[in-house]
Amino acid sequence: MSQQQTADYAIRMRKVTKIFGDAPLQALEMLRQGKSKADLQSESGHVVGLDDVSLDIERGQIFVVMGLSGSGKSTLVRHVNRLIDPTGGEIEVDGVDVLKMNLAELREFRRSKVTMVFQKFGLLPHRSVIDNVAYGLETRGVGKADRMQAAAQWIETVGLAGYEQSLPRQLSGGQQQRVGLARALAMDTDIILMDEAFSALDPLIRSGMQDQLLSLQQQLGKTILFITHDFDEALKIGNRIAVLRDGAVQQVGRPEDIVLRPANAHIEEFVRDVNKARAIRVRSIMETGPAEACEQAVAMDARCEDVLPLFADHQWVGVLNGQGVQIGRITARQVIKALARYAPQAG
Ligand SMILES: Nc1ncnc2c1ncn2[C@@H]1O[C@H](COP(=O)(O)OP(=O)(O)OP(=O)(O)O)[C@@H](O)[C@H]1O
Ligand SMILES: [Mg+2]
Repeated sequence: MSQQQTADYAIRMRKVTKIFGDAPLQALEMLRQGKSKADLQSESGHVVGLDDVSLDIERGQIFVVMGLSGSGKSTLVRHVNRLIDPTGGEIEVDGVDVLKMNLAELREFRRSKVTMVFQKFGLLPHRSVIDNVAYGLETRGVGKADRMQAAAQWIETVGLAGYEQSLPRQLSGGQQQRVGLARALAMDTDIILMDEAFSALDPLIRSGMQDQLLSLQQQLGKTILFITHDFDEALKIGNRIAVLRDGAVQQVGRPEDIVLRPANAHIEEFVRDVNKARAIRVRSIMETGPAEACEQAVAMDARCEDVLPLFADHQWVGVLNGQGVQIGRITARQVIKALARYAPQAG
């Protein structure tokens, strides 16, 4: 991968393949000859974890990898910090070839470059909340006063002030997840990997955590690789989404690209059940170009559900860019067309 190309990307994967089993290269050859994941498994006992995955993840993005159970999401994310070595392919983080790192470099990389938030929280059971949050900083050699101060601040940010001395088992699942998030944020790495971090939470608490992650991200501008099997969650928090199936990337795009133009029948199945009014943003369906000023206007990032009520009183609604300048306009008809496109067939 050329230096110039890598500059804008936090994470790049090129043709990454992972086969679990005793003779992965032999199995890879069979895969290349057109064997399916299921056939390879039943005939040779090898499991395809990832199949020829190439991804470019820009800095400062929340990049979501979405797919059903067993599609390879955890396998993918674990390649980024090299908890798993690929059978083939290239992986770069911040322009550095992860596969060439020796043990010492890898340890430093995991301490300073990437942190990971796990689904099952991964907290140390006998340590208090504040000691859990400060733990990563301790391994990095930060002095006690400094790490306690940083930990206390992150605990407050995630809404857990007052729980500093509690043990993990004294907290609810949602609170434990907040401790896990605070611990990752305290490390202040540019890249955060989140593997199904919110999946164990109740819907309401989960939605609150998503909102909190989005608002934190606005201030922090990290690169977040977020794994989920929930398409609604992917649409809500992803700047870009990759859909995985049987270890292979099916489609990569902005949430509305996927909702408006699903690449195949598998993705269409997900799209059928989503709240399209929430998923589709005004900017992707508006009429661009100069137009008369409209009485009512919304930001280009507004969702269809935000603009719909305005059509009760207005035929046209203006669309504004970040500077408040009108860059287009939209009608109820355009919104309805976008929402109706992939509606399930009646009957
Ligand atoms: N260590 C391993 N040894 C053998 N096979 C494995 C191993 N880890 C994962 N697999 C297989 O690789 C495939 C992808 O697994 P992975 O855990 O990445 O899926 P996932 O998308 O994260 O699923 P989930 O949503 O259930 O967490 C599965 O078929 C799984 O059985
Ligand atoms: Mg997983």
